[in-house]
Amino acid sequence: MPPYTLNINRQSYEIEAAEDTPLLWVLRDNLGLTGTKFSCGIGQCGACTVLIDGEPTRACITPVPQVVGKTILTIEGLSADGYHPVQQAWLDEHVTQCGYCQPGQILNAIALLTKNPNPSDDEIDIAMQNVLCRCGTYQRIRKAIHIAAEMGG
Ligand code: FES
Ligand code: FES
Repeated sequence: MPPYTLNINRQSYEIEAAEDTPLLWVLRDNLGLTGTKFSCGIGQCGACTVLIDGEPTRACITPVPQVVGKTILTIEGLSADGYHPVQQAWLDEHVTQCGYCQPGQILNAIALLTKNPNPSDDEIDIAMQNVLCRCGTYQRIRKAIHIAAEMGG
């Protein structure tokens, strides 16, 4: 198995994996970064969303060689204390129900706010539609993104 050097959460990691190994399994199994979730496994639900060079990316269908030389951000790397403004807004709005989709939701929201610091409801809905929530937290997610925008998230 070839070795790869990956930049994850601002740290460099050397990992060995087959070239068709999805990033998701390297994160979860090799590195223990289990905040990135496995759900559909076929690129449909967004639960496994991470940011690759700031772009929301589905780790379950992204082979490891594709992310060499890029910056990878998972939910664990977002803040040292769990209180990034977007996380704080999520807490303030009690967004989370079962929680399974929320790492992907939060990272997707951060990508949106980075490009558009004050999104409208429609812009939020369009940007967030790719991460599914079986608990139906969409309304609270929208409110939390507005709050995070006010906090400069
Ligand atoms: S687990 Fe990756 S998109 Fe569903
Ligand atoms: S909070 Fe349960 S799936 Fe989204």
